[in-house]
Amino acid sequence: MELFHKILVTSAKGGIGKSTVALGVAAALSREGRRVLLVDCDAGNRCLDLMLGVEDSVLYDLSDVYEDRCAPEEAFLSCPGLPNLVFCPAPADPFTDLDADRFCGTLASLCEASHAEFVICDTAGLGDAVRAIASGFADGAMIIATQQPASIRSAERTAMYVEELGGIPCRLVISCFEERAAEDGIRAGLIEIIDRTHVRTLGVVPRDRALLLSQETGELPKETAKSARAFANIAHRILGKDVRLFFGMRKIRTQRVL
Ligand SMILES: Nc1ncnc2c1ncn2[C@@H]1O[C@H](COP(=O)(O)OP(=O)(O)O)[C@@H](O)[C@H]1O
Ligand SMILES: [Mg+2]
Repeated sequence: MELFHKILVTSAKGGIGKSTVALGVAAALSREGRRVLLVDCDAGNRCLDLMLGVEDSVLYDLSDVYEDRCAPEEAFLSCPGLPNLVFCPAPADPFTDLDADRFCGTLASLCEASHAEFVICDTAGLGDAVRAIASGFADGAMIIATQQPASIRSAERTAMYVEELGGIPCRLVISCFEERAAEDGIRAGLIEIIDRTHVRTLGVVPRDRALLLSQETGELPKETAKSARAFANIAHRILGKDVRLFFGMRKIRTQRVL
């Protein structure tokens, strides 16, 4: 059974890989032949248009649909190399007095117009948009954490907050994972992160220089990059398949990074 279809990506801490995971998982699901709508809900701080290399094509955004200034399909951008992915950019400025029902209605209309099977909403962390999505739109959440103590604590609190709001299931994605540091005991290992966040794990994305560099130029890393393998594994788990934690990533041995 597929885990969820309308996915909130969040965590209270910034700069920990939320947008990267949202895009990586959206790309991986679309490479599986699934139609995916990726919505940048980080109003005032949009970045997915840059990561996708489509910033010069942005004409309308999420706020234009919300304010009825354009039809949902007018806010869609297609993404080079990902024919099954539809993208809706975030507004350049934050929403003022966001109306939760109207916002969820906007997401629902985008979803309908895109004919997407999966919707992935990238957010900035706690705030009006997250509250609205968790309580009125999403059927599951990916909570992002890194090995940083502050981010682990944030992930735990965010998961509690999201579960209380909407009763939707939360799954943990550990991002920017440095396997060597975990092996050496310098940074938190997997068990410590899972224990401290109290959230079931969906996947682990290793720190990947190729991913970092590709983002600078608005490209996706090659499908053979270790981060791309990690996103493919997460996509497969969302699709209900059983996949080993580091499947396809030869150098990482689960037992050593626990
Ligand atoms: N797996 C990873 N490997 C290497 N760098 C990463 C990885 N995930 C995220 N980053 C980098 O971390 C920074 C923050 O990522 P981003 O996705 O924008 O975080 P957030 O959305 O939480 O603010 C970016 O520079 C991004 O390239
Ligand atoms: Mg972000």
